[in-house]
Amino acid sequence: MIKDNLPSFGLTSKDFGEDFTWGVSTAAYQIEGAYNLHNKGASIWDTFTSKKGNIHNNEHGQVAVDFYHKYKEDILLMKAMYIKHFRFSLSWSRILPNGIGAINNEGIDFYNKLINFCLEHGLTPWVTLYHWDLPEALQQKGGWANREIIDWFKAYVSICCKAFGDRVKNWMVLNEPMVFTGAGYYLGVHAPGKKGLKQFLPAVHHAVLCQAEGGRIVRSLVANANVGTTFSCSQITPYSSKPKDILAASKADALLNRLFIEPSLGMGYPTENVSVLKQIEKYSKPGDVENSIFEFDFIGIQNYTREVVKHNYFIPYIQARIVKASKRAVKTTLMDWEVYPPSIYNMIKKFNAYKGVHKILITENGAAFTDTLLNNSVHDVDRLQYLQNYLQQVKKAQNEGLKVDGYFVWTFTDNFEWAEGYKPRFGLVYVDFKTQKRILKSSGRWFKKFLS
Ligand code: NOJ
Repeated sequence: MIKDNLPSFGLTSKDFGEDFTWGVSTAAYQIEGAYNLHNKGASIWDTFTSKKGNIHNNEHGQVAVDFYHKYKEDILLMKAMYIKHFRFSLSWSRILPNGIGAINNEGIDFYNKLINFCLEHGLTPWVTLYHWDLPEALQQKGGWANREIIDWFKAYVSICCKAFGDRVKNWMVLNEPMVFTGAGYYLGVHAPGKKGLKQFLPAVHHAVLCQAEGGRIVRSLVANANVGTTFSCSQITPYSSKPKDILAASKADALLNRLFIEPSLGMGYPTENVSVLKQIEKYSKPGDVENSIFEFDFIGIQNYTREVVKHNYFIPYIQARIVKASKRAVKTTLMDWEVYPPSIYNMIKKFNAYKGVHKILITENGAAFTDTLLNNSVHDVDRLQYLQNYLQQVKKAQNEGLKVDGYFVWTFTDNFEWAEGYKPRFGLVYVDFKTQKRILKSSGRWFKKFLS
């Protein structure tokens, strides 16, 4: 064992105040495995990963990190690390194999056991209702592009609230709707691999409506619920001070940072910046504007990097393109995301500026770097410093009186990183994917010390 040389930081969790929520975040498809056990139905990620060429090395989440069988071990490790809040998502097709209709009691049982085990060991569950794994049976009917998703989703949310709402109080309706609609229904690089505006625009509109409808159901069915939803967000910096680049940056900002929160606050879609969004009207019905509004108890913001954006005539609809971090001579993570801690501060500030946002939690932040396993240890100094530097910025925001009430590391163990497969490791805990052995990384040791 190498002796950890944990860089000093100067802050402990106590400096953020007694009421600050500290946790770790995960998602069902990325960790659970057991993809067809106990009557689980297929999800769009089971289908998407089964097609050659979609995922790095054609990897998939059939086993993932076998959380389905190892949840007790993982929760006990969280407990040993003084982690008090655990964010995980429910797999819709584990609960409803066909997306609608018959409930799979074995799926309900699994989540009951998981929730109960968390509570027995002093961990508060934070449940995400939708973290991208739509039941395949619903995709066969058009998925998020079909307006019927509103009814399917409402039925699913009601079932979850009735099954778990006596013990789960913290709920997040959607995880990063911009990513699952953009990557899944416009670019086709995530499940279900659909492309183009005709898929994307209705998917956006239906996700906006589900976001609010889901919130209303949780509030009506769960006593003392704390209801939120989560958004991906990145500081957008224009490539130069040329007016064309500034305009390009404002369009990217509207699309990446504003598209899903603003309708929920009654501000509508940011059509003045991205005029193609006006076409959402085609998919709108009377009452939709009002039904898109919901007063969330908290907003979860998920920040990793910043984007530098440049004008580009050939990019349809927005004439803007992201300049890759690798082309900019900056420090990057394995995802080719720039390490840029002020981005998290600026996002906290941006979301604070919205009237109607009551509480803000960082529901994801973390980084993938190459981890080297040496003598049963992983000395991941880059990740550790990344987390410390981002946390300094969270503290700066708090010192300035901005709302920020919690922070969840993405993620607990290494896991399946969507199209990138198992290559980028984001965990505080290293996983040997062959043996499923867990090894606490230096970043995990540091986080434990920070929380203790
Ligand atoms: C956002 C997503 O919610 C999560 O599923 C993903 O693994 C991380 N960011 C890292 O890319």
